[in-house]
Amino acid sequence: MGALVHRDFQRVYPVMSRGKGVFLYDQSGREYLDAVGGIAVVNIGHGVSEVVAAMSKQAEKVAFVHDAAFANEPAVAFAEELATWAPSSLRHVLLLSGGSEATETAMKLARQYHLEHGKAGKYRIVSRWISYHGNTLGALSMSGRPAWRKAFTPLLLNFPKIPAPYCYRCPMGKAYPECNVACADELERTICMEGSDSIAAFIAEPVIGTSAAGVTPPPEYYPRIREICDRYDVLFIADEVITGVGRTGKNFGIEHWEATPDLITVAKGLSSGYAPLAAVLLRDNVYDAIARGSGGITQGFTYSGHPLSAAVGLAVLRYLAAHDLVANAARIGRLLLERLATLTRYPIVGDVRGTGLLQGVEFVADQATRHPWPRKAEVTRRIVEAALDEGVMVVPGMAGIVDGVAGDHIQISPPYIFTEAHVERLVAGLEAAIQRVVRELSAVRN
Ligand SMILES: Cc1ncc(COP(=O)(O)O)c(C=O)c1O
Repeated sequence: MGALVHRDFQRVYPVMSRGKGVFLYDQSGREYLDAVGGIAVVNIGHGVSEVVAAMSKQAEKVAFVHDAAFANEPAVAFAEELATWAPSSLRHVLLLSGGSEATETAMKLARQYHLEHGKAGKYRIVSRWISYHGNTLGALSMSGRPAWRKAFTPLLLNFPKIPAPYCYRCPMGKAYPECNVACADELERTICMEGSDSIAAFIAEPVIGTSAAGVTPPPEYYPRIREICDRYDVLFIADEVITGVGRTGKNFGIEHWEATPDLITVAKGLSSGYAPLAAVLLRDNVYDAIARGSGGITQGFTYSGHPLSAAVGLAVLRYLAAHDLVANAARIGRLLLERLATLTRYPIVGDVRGTGLLQGVEFVADQATRHPWPRKAEVTRRIVEAALDEGVMVVPGMAGIVDGVAGDHIQISPPYIFTEAHVERLVAGLEAAIQRVVRELSAVRN
């Protein structure tokens, strides 16, 4: 199998050797529609020459300086540009290399914020089940993803979790709007039960990513979360590693609600995948507390503020603006959702949901009862593989959406340059895949 260690030791991984626009090509030259942007990363498409040029120009000038000792021009310029994308009070930008670094850093900044105010007891982070915030131990401690936590449970921090705002399978057994977003009030109950003097922050993905792709809370949800956080001196961290820089059709996903977070984490599409790049945006209150207090942070990584990554980030933000791609994500997102909704005529399609170009399809054994398929039916794997045979790439959703074990769903998160024709090709490919899986499952059942 060669020296390279893959995630699945049994699987033979197809090699992709080239990408252009919304298409990837394998070694035999076969074309695939990249309807997932890698994994909600490739926002402006593959092979964009402006980004390649910016990268190579910077590499010729200087590829690396250490941010603990020096500033560099692209990092300064990129931070200025990114700040203009964010709500005006979140204009302080810390540069990093990946999503887990960003959420882990946000966790520590929340702790430091309270330390600066003499509240050393406030260090725990509340998050939600059916969530993902990264794979390092702090980030995994915040992640409500049972399948990935299991093996490492003894190493994880004791952070509380509240139910997800997952209306299709309401964990509180209620229905919107009669529920009066009781799932948001669970934050208050948990803070009180755990003791507000121990809780530093609440972290959430504004629109849920691969753990339940496209699940979008109701309009009252985040304003209620913000009120509760304010009441108990708890910071609100919006994890926009996926939803940041336009994926949901607005600059940041949280802007769909009237609620301003104290910290925003962003990664993935920030560089459109051309180089590793992430950031934490600090609101004035957090930045000022540190500036007036200890005066600095003790977190840093060798590659923080990397000049090449920053040059890429700047080129990507400029490309998004020049081609009005966030507006296109909103427009094409609406069309995609409409077209995917037609697939509910197939008995295995339970729910279609999403905002902008972050969408998901959930599969069920029974549309009326929403009963899931048994794990061994491997519906998600079947759908993803059948779609790939049709030349369409979709991402398998994380297992366990129903009860930590069962539940099948996929994520669709194409580049923002998707057109009407790409939507039609995606829906046709997915429909053919669903038809094939319906046939396979009826053979399994009989
Ligand atoms: C919402 C969210 N936060 C954090 C992460 C972790 O990012 P990374 O894989 O870059 O460490 C992810 C990755 O999928 C994510 O979706």
